[in-house]
Amino acid sequence: MSQPTIESILQEKRLFPPSAEFSQNAQIKSLEEYQHLYDKAKADPEAFWDQLAKSELHWFQKWDKVLDWQPPFAKWFVNGKINISYNCLDRHLTTWRKNKAAIIWEGEPGDSRTLTYAQLHREVCQFANVLKSLGVKKGDKVGVYMPMIPEAAVAMLACARIGAVHSVVFGGFSAEALRDRLIDGQAKLVITADGGWRKDAIVGLKPQVDKALEAGAVPSVENVLVVQRTKQEVNMQEGRDHWWHELQQKASADCPAEPMDSEDMLFILYTSGSTGKPKGVVHSTGGYNLYTHMTTKWIFDLNDTDVYWCTADVGWITGHSYIVYGPLSNGATTVMYEGAPRGSNPGCFWDVIEKYGVTVFYTAPTAIRAFIKMGEQHPNARDLSSLRLLGTVGEPINPEAWMWYHKVIGGERCPIVDTWWQTETGGIMITPLPGAIASKPGSATRPFPGILADIVDLDGNPAGDNEGGYLVVKHPWPSMMRTVYGDDDRFRRTYWEHIAPKDGKYVYFAGDGARRDEDGYFWVMGRVDDVLNVSGHRLGTMEVESALVSHPAVAEAAVVGKPDELKGEEVVAFVTLEGTYQGSDELSKELKSHVVKEIGAIARPGEIRFTDALPKTRSGKIMRRLLRNLAAGQEVSGDTSTLEDRSVLDKLREGT
Ligand code: WT7
Repeated sequence: MSQPTIESILQEKRLFPPSAEFSQNAQIKSLEEYQHLYDKAKADPEAFWDQLAKSELHWFQKWDKVLDWQPPFAKWFVNGKINISYNCLDRHLTTWRKNKAAIIWEGEPGDSRTLTYAQLHREVCQFANVLKSLGVKKGDKVGVYMPMIPEAAVAMLACARIGAVHSVVFGGFSAEALRDRLIDGQAKLVITADGGWRKDAIVGLKPQVDKALEAGAVPSVENVLVVQRTKQEVNMQEGRDHWWHELQQKASADCPAEPMDSEDMLFILYTSGSTGKPKGVVHSTGGYNLYTHMTTKWIFDLNDTDVYWCTADVGWITGHSYIVYGPLSNGATTVMYEGAPRGSNPGCFWDVIEKYGVTVFYTAPTAIRAFIKMGEQHPNARDLSSLRLLGTVGEPINPEAWMWYHKVIGGERCPIVDTWWQTETGGIMITPLPGAIASKPGSATRPFPGILADIVDLDGNPAGDNEGGYLVVKHPWPSMMRTVYGDDDRFRRTYWEHIAPKDGKYVYFAGDGARRDEDGYFWVMGRVDDVLNVSGHRLGTMEVESALVSHPAVAEAAVVGKPDELKGEEVVAFVTLEGTYQGSDELSKELKSHVVKEIGAIARPGEIRFTDALPKTRSGKIMRRLLRNLAAGQEVSGDTSTLEDRSVLDKLREGT
């Protein structure tokens, strides 16, 4: 199966409007209604968000000003006081939703648990008191390194409740990656579990935390809280480590939500860029709450009869915004799943949908492609008739996978929302509103109301129809990242200085290339920087290169992406060796494991190619474009005249 190419996308003319029945019952019922909202928001974005903030959320104190924009720094709902845990929990307790399922958890192997809003509220309050008892205060940073269990959501909401800043680190990251993130974020406490289930095995999480904290490597960490999940023996360091269940039992369930300033930091989440170490993306409270609330409501079209399931991990922004905060703020039922698709359980997603009657299902193209490969007999053997709406996120979806999703999973009746956004944007930016906008397979379609997206050249001039360019956002939006943690300058450089319009206005540059067709539909083509998208996860080529050169055998490394049927892209590393080292299968294996140890399994190179030299320009820049061609087994295209030594290229070619 191929990734979308410009040619295939331009040929894609199929249009899939929602059924009349879907539209009638939808939150936003027609193209006219969408257009009206879009126009209204465009004409006066501040008035648009002002009204929604008033009608949709609880505030302890109203704001003085909707937006304070000192480019590129934005403040939303200035001086407003709010607490997102209050909006996700307390306000539902005075309604019939008190006893509605908030979280339905499907664990491994066959475990399950349901928490109503009242139960979740109680757990969160107790755990907030546990955090307080360990000295966690407003503004303190808390690392969360957890499997997909309800306690992960409880931990996040408890932090938010007392004004602590959570920094969730995906449980698949290595001890080294965890350590870097805890140091950068100055975590005072870490919340983890003894272990978690990954595929069919137990993986230790606490041992990774121990390793990350070894020899006082993270001096800011005073305490570690450990959920007992997998029950194997773990080391508990006296005075530092505590069992979650022991402290939780003793804690009072009385913990009023702390009124937070709208601009107080809610969380830090690390993501890869094209240069340097992963950056801590900072999100704040009020704007993030409003934007994730509105996007969840209008895009996933949630009603009180819905059972909503997003298959992401809470370690990523999708889990933050669309498993925890957005759905709970709406009083919805959100499913959390600990498992993962795998050969030994090729029907696992469809079992969960059947078991709980999932109505709205949100997953990633890479998962869809994996299921296509496993065969349609698996979904066909389950009752998927409860589904009414499908979504995808993480990378461009190839039209073939879109059609399979539409037919085999959606029974040709469910609209598909292809949602484009990023860790930095906090919420979905370009997407169909499912009752209003007809889909085209492979297109994220139109911007959400209030989002002024455009496609431009480097000077900020708008591209014509079907002309490629850079995807930008021209006006601030409530859930935009506020800065890179501890590095305002990097924030400005990375996102606001690549595109320089002549009028001096600041535009947000997302790092993606895209085009817009004659109907105003956006087609996202993928990253234009040195960022790879492996199974919907972002990976900086430089991060993998740094991991490789930290191995004694490696002199130099250049990493590129190669198109892959399942993962979208696969990591290919070109490596030159130190002195006497010789390339071998063994060394290749060792280097792959080394990358896993340094970063985590998501970064494991699919291929290591040993070479005597890397193709460089006369000024010493590695010509990745050539390496990308070579990795993909294509003819080297474009200009090679700047190459310093042509024989390097010839040798690399021969080696393939
Ligand atoms: C990058 C952001 C935001 C959730 C998951 C990833 C790519 C994301 C789409 C889509 C085409 C997409 C972009 C973007 N991307 N969604 N629907 N169509 N590309 O978050 O790790 O911050 O990565 O993922 O390249 O820049 P992330």
